[in-house]
Amino acid sequence: MLKDFPAPKEQAVCPICNGTGWKPAGNSRVTRCDCRMQARSQTLLVSARIPKRYEHCELSNFEFDGPYRDLATARLAACRFVEEYPLDSTGLLLTGSIGVGKTHLAVGVIRELILGKGISCLFYDYRELLKQIQNSYNDSVKTTELEVLRPVFEAEVLVLDELGAVKPTEWVWDTVSLILNTRYNDNRTTIITTNFDDKPAAAVSGLRGASREETLGDRIGERMRSRIHEMCRIVRMEGQDFRQTLRSASFR
Ligand SMILES: Nc1ncnc2c1ncn2[C@@H]1O[C@H](COP(=O)(O)OP(=O)(O)OP(=O)(O)O)[C@@H](O)[C@H]1O
Ligand SMILES: [Mg+2]
Ligand SMILES: [Zn+2]
Repeated sequence: MLKDFPAPKEQAVCPICNGTGWKPAGNSRVTRCDCRMQARSQTLLVSARIPKRYEHCELSNFEFDGPYRDLATARLAACRFVEEYPLDSTGLLLTGSIGVGKTHLAVGVIRELILGKGISCLFYDYRELLKQIQNSYNDSVKTTELEVLRPVFEAEVLVLDELGAVKPTEWVWDTVSLILNTRYNDNRTTIITTNFDDKPAAAVSGLRGASREETLGDRIGERMRSRIHEMCRIVRMEGQDFRQTLRSASFR
């Protein structure tokens, strides 16, 4: 249930609820005052740990009217996800090349869930998460592996950004499967972005060679790829690198 979030101290007493946090809702009932709802949203927004560089990312400022139909489809999938959650709690796997807006869309979704539905969300860059876990093995560091992982396990909705971006090792595979399997078993929703094509590992496809691009299967293993298919809807995003477009536009 909703926790009681105190109104920020510096603020004057709320004129609607006189600082009680409750306002009349007719028929001598009361309901949560907006001042407390806002305080809760702000708390959730801070604890989602959205990196500064993505703070501007919203569904409302995601452009999709270019030549790339994929972007409109992807945006629609993101909006639908927000609408249906939590009735439909299937996650999203956003795949596509560099700079097409995968992270933008993922952040837009959790921002909307936080502000519109009061859902607890968490953003984690895959590389950063693995680094923090590895760090926790260091004796001089005071945090334990579980302290790093607990919020990752417990967030209602987790964004795992750049899945596969760490060179695969046995430890990496074990750690990814611990995270995804725990969330899967607890029926929690995960939104994943990746640069790798959602295709089988070389060992499975039989395709090899220098020109072959690495796939998601190569990077996280086929078992985890198949787990993700159970947890997520696949959203393919094809388009230009938005950063390049921005840059060239500003030089005009
Ligand atoms: N369709 C879009 N509308 C508005 N801004 C966009 C769009 N696509 C990308 N951007 C902006 O361009 C920058 C790069 O986008 P983003 O980081 O989401 O791409 P990405 O697909 O996650 O790239 P990478 O594969 O490098 O992680 C961000 O600042 C983002 O806000
Ligand atoms: Mg990204
Ligand atoms: Zn109030």
